[in-house]
Amino acid sequence: MAAERMLISGGHRLEGVVHVSGGKNTAVAIIPATILSEAPCIVENLPDIEDVHVSIETLKHLGAQVDWDPALGTMRVDASTICRTDVPLELCRRMRASYYYIGALLARFGEATVPLPGGCDIGRRPIDQHIKGLRALGAEVDNHAGTVFARANGLIGSDIFMDMVTVGGTVNVMLAATRARGVTTIYNAAKEPHIVDLANFLGSIGCRVKGAGTDVIRIYGAEKLAARRSYAVIPDQIETGTLMIAAAATHGDVTITGCIPTHMEALTAKLLEMGARVEERDDAIRVRSLGAHRGVSFKTQVYPGFPTDLQQPMSALLCTAMGTSTIVENIFESRFRHLYEMERMGANVRIYEQTAVIQGIPQLHAAAVEASDLRAGAALVIAGLMAQGTTEIYNTHFIDRGYEHLEEKLNSLGAKISRIRE
Ligand code: EPZ
Repeated sequence: MAAERMLISGGHRLEGVVHVSGGKNTAVAIIPATILSEAPCIVENLPDIEDVHVSIETLKHLGAQVDWDPALGTMRVDASTICRTDVPLELCRRMRASYYYIGALLARFGEATVPLPGGCDIGRRPIDQHIKGLRALGAEVDNHAGTVFARANGLIGSDIFMDMVTVGGTVNVMLAATRARGVTTIYNAAKEPHIVDLANFLGSIGCRVKGAGTDVIRIYGAEKLAARRSYAVIPDQIETGTLMIAAAATHGDVTITGCIPTHMEALTAKLLEMGARVEERDDAIRVRSLGAHRGVSFKTQVYPGFPTDLQQPMSALLCTAMGTSTIVENIFESRFRHLYEMERMGANVRIYEQTAVIQGIPQLHAAAVEASDLRAGAALVIAGLMAQGTTEIYNTHFIDRGYEHLEEKLNSLGAKISRIRE
């Protein structure tokens, strides 16, 4: 893939209406889950992003028949033709969430061979809790030379207490438990919206799941599961938040449609605290911002706390908020690298381990900056929208992993963004 860079001419107010896409983190959990259905599955509202492409390529590699219409966001999967249970390293290197295929393949076929994704720029990201949960269901799981080998001669429902709240660990155990004999109870489970969405999808293929959205989730294993209707994934909570922040950052007036306002409450509260105006409707949020913003402080938490994935985009907005803002990153070990890039744009930041202290300045100026991961890229886009001059962002492929047509959406609201192929 040729390298590309994004050019953003800053200082343009965003105004108008934009529709949010289907959720990346729910899509990468539900696409592997289609393996569990003996009948063909239809999944709708999938975003046309790199992570979805890689997960679809994985299904095809395994032998499933997949029809994918990127314009409609609709995918049809017939998993009855799957003929192998190994995922190639090349696909795992392109998408961290490939490890969800462990739980899905183990449940359907009793085995899975999946190379581990490496750590990434935000932290080590081990999967010890995934392995602990799968072993509790009776699987033999070896993590040898960077590949996970999982085998099970029938899975048995069990009580599993997660040592820490982990979205991925909760998803993987839910997937495996669907075909375990008996009931599986996950204690200290993740409560993110995409956990609830996965539970609802599993319900649509005949698996009873209770308690999703709370910290105790019960999965009633079934001999057979078969899709009885199509399923549309929920809107992307993090894209919604990124667009809300971009609206405030440009002192604009943007209405985001097709979103779920209750998923956004932690961010909404902070934007209101800063002096922005946020109006919630049934499936839309309007963000307006006229005057200067007040600095705020927050700590990233598991849902419904402030999402770690919005910490980076929010840090860009705080660079020109009045006074001092403080961010504590509680979820990942090193999720502040984007701040060093923003320093090149004039940001006044100090980092003390898990805490970033941002002193507001009147304006950022354009610079050439590098995205180091998906949400760092989003943060730099927002900084570019705010900055005086034309900002260049390198490594735009990170952004394409998780945002569907981001610059088209922003340009439709009045931004001036283009791409140059190296
Ligand atoms: C999911 O990652 C998301 N990815 C992340 O979004 C998100 O930041 C994260 O949840 C938190 O909400 C997907 O859903 C595909 P965790 P995940 O397991 O599952 C530690 C984005 O930008 N941990 O909840 O990897 C882990 O290291 C991405 O869309 C263990 O120690 O997150 C981290 O410090 C970035 N052992 C913390 O728990 C384990 O076995 C939370 O991780 C698992 C996790």
